[in-house]
Amino acid sequence: MKSKNPKPMKSILSVIVLFFLSLGLNADNGHQLWLRSKSNIPVQVVSKRSSAILTIARQELQHAWQGEANQTVVLGLTREKQIKGDGFRLSAEGVHANTERGILYGVYELLRRQQTGQAIRDELVNPSWENRLLNHWDNLDGTVERGYAGHSIFWRAGNDSLTVTPEDLKLWEAYARANASIGINGSVLNNVNASPKVLSAAYLNRVKAIADVLRPYGIKTYLSINFASPMVIGRLSTADPLNAEVVDWWKNKTKEIYTLIPDFGGFLVKANSEGQPGPQDFGRNHVDGANLLADALNPYGGLVMWRAFVYNPSDEDRAKQAYNEFMPFDGQFRDNVIIQVKNGPIDFQPREPFSPLFGAMKQTPVMAELQVTQEYLGHSIHLVFLAPMWEEFLHSDTWQEGEGSTVARATDGSLFKQKHTAIAGVANIGLDDNWCGHDFAQANWYAYGRQAWDSSLSSEQIADEWLKLTFSRSLFVEGDQKVVLPMEWDLNFLKPVKQMMLNSHEAAVDYMMPLGLHHIFAAHHHYGPGPWWAPKGMRKDWTPPYYHQADSEGIGFDRTASGSGAVSQYHEPLQSQLSSPETCPEALLLWFHHVSWDYKMKNGRTLWNELCYRYDQGVQQVRQFQKVWDQAERYVDRDRFGRVQQRLRDQSLNAMEWKDACLLYFQQYSQRPIPYDLERPVNNLDDLIEKDQRTIRAYE
Ligand code: GCU
Repeated sequence: MKSKNPKPMKSILSVIVLFFLSLGLNADNGHQLWLRSKSNIPVQVVSKRSSAILTIARQELQHAWQGEANQTVVLGLTREKQIKGDGFRLSAEGVHANTERGILYGVYELLRRQQTGQAIRDELVNPSWENRLLNHWDNLDGTVERGYAGHSIFWRAGNDSLTVTPEDLKLWEAYARANASIGINGSVLNNVNASPKVLSAAYLNRVKAIADVLRPYGIKTYLSINFASPMVIGRLSTADPLNAEVVDWWKNKTKEIYTLIPDFGGFLVKANSEGQPGPQDFGRNHVDGANLLADALNPYGGLVMWRAFVYNPSDEDRAKQAYNEFMPFDGQFRDNVIIQVKNGPIDFQPREPFSPLFGAMKQTPVMAELQVTQEYLGHSIHLVFLAPMWEEFLHSDTWQEGEGSTVARATDGSLFKQKHTAIAGVANIGLDDNWCGHDFAQANWYAYGRQAWDSSLSSEQIADEWLKLTFSRSLFVEGDQKVVLPMEWDLNFLKPVKQMMLNSHEAAVDYMMPLGLHHIFAAHHHYGPGPWWAPKGMRKDWTPPYYHQADSEGIGFDRTASGSGAVSQYHEPLQSQLSSPETCPEALLLWFHHVSWDYKMKNGRTLWNELCYRYDQGVQQVRQFQKVWDQAERYVDRDRFGRVQQRLRDQSLNAMEWKDACLLYFQQYSQRPIPYDLERPVNNLDDLIEKDQRTIRAYE
């Protein structure tokens, strides 16, 4: 490489050249994601070794090089202590790393910096977590649980369901490449509500075929397993983790898997949760179950990711349960077990406090599970950029080892000694042309990978990168002649669209469930509002009134000492801070407190009025996003512009329904007017409830 110094002038010039192309903004199905850059500039790649990974690294450089023509880039293996795991060193010569995977990541970083005009200088770049996984909730019949982008890219129904076609291979390779480019190094191929069939020989052959495609991109393959597999496919009479035959069954099965896939990553397990089988069915506990699998995997270096997503209808507060169930086991798991914990104590709500298990389990590795697919955030219809939510979560201070014990540090090995570290994101990927259903949902896949690589990256930087990679290069010649200067693009497209992305999560929180409200979704689909839904005989913890607790006095879930006491699971001084409504962050007020309708907020408004303003503000924001996007038309190809415009209209309608449904429903309790300076509801509560019931009937 040429120089240690950044080359702002040069990169600006190359961007100008691009922008001076005449622009007729053509159709674009979004399939290329953020990997659009192509270049004819020659580059000399020097590498002493050759391997599948290094071949890809070389090809990527040759495909997209934007540095000086004929520059030499050395790709070299080294042994440097400061480089950790998949990390690498960028330098004047090129990329050096301790592993070939590290070299590939270095190449992607180098190209990203060229394409986004970021400085390339001597730098050591290490990943935040060792294992950075996507969890696919893909069923073997091709459906995707909570998937909003079409069927599975890995599985399908029908007679040819296990045949590996050339189209499969092509798609898996494109998937692997996209992941590698953002540092993801593991994929769990099937739903946590796992079919035992995935461990049958026929399915394992398909898993092997997928693993063979992912491997050269540095991605390990993992499977979700069903704890009752020894009974269902092994025909044993039990799956008791302490039974010798069961132990042998798992050992043999694991051996069979490693014979096919020598670098298999391990198992993800949802046990004794939402009806899934688990060790408790046999009078055993999570430790017995997890250690059984850990022992089977240990000879091969495999990991068990054991989920802590457990809750029981009889418990007084669902938010407390994972902590209560797992804390007593701290220190009893094998060192190749990681406890996988959702970011919040309940279930991927628009906003939750962090789960109190983070930082509290000090002798057991804990990893975060984030949800990239927008189950509770508008599916693939709403434009909601999730990086700010994850940034808030990863930087939350648990105080478990004093100030600065952030969730990121409590899981990345810097706070606790742990053999393995990991992070997982539930994928939003399907067979849709644009992979994610919404073109902007691609930004969440991208952001997850980038934050998993570097937890210190800001949402702003990630949005900036993604927009530059995904949109600017998509402007190409055809039809109308238009010329766009980079400064104009920055000002009229990048700046407002980035701001829209950065505001979008808070807007969704506002129009769905502001101030710490949670789980007031319509049943089953979790898209629209359903604060009223509580059919007779239904598990209370599956109904919204359990969570909002609205009555004539006020609203919110009392989790203080006088309520469920969930606050006691947090470390001081957080515990005291959350315990008092005066010091509890207002964004979480109704998560932790039941407060009266006339409670005075910091801005002087009553709680009821503030709730009204927040809902209104959320709706207004989406209307604003529509304006931003319509003004961006000139800078976006026709297809993507139209798709996003249509979805913003749908989002606006849905945001309005949220506002009207929640305010009219809660007003029955508050008995107070919606402040008269706010827009009046346009929906009737009865109509909204009737609509909701029709949808529910369709599910049942
Ligand atoms: C949520 C989601 C389910 C999923 C579960 C899990 O409850 O709605 O579809 O199976 O989380 O994470 O296991």
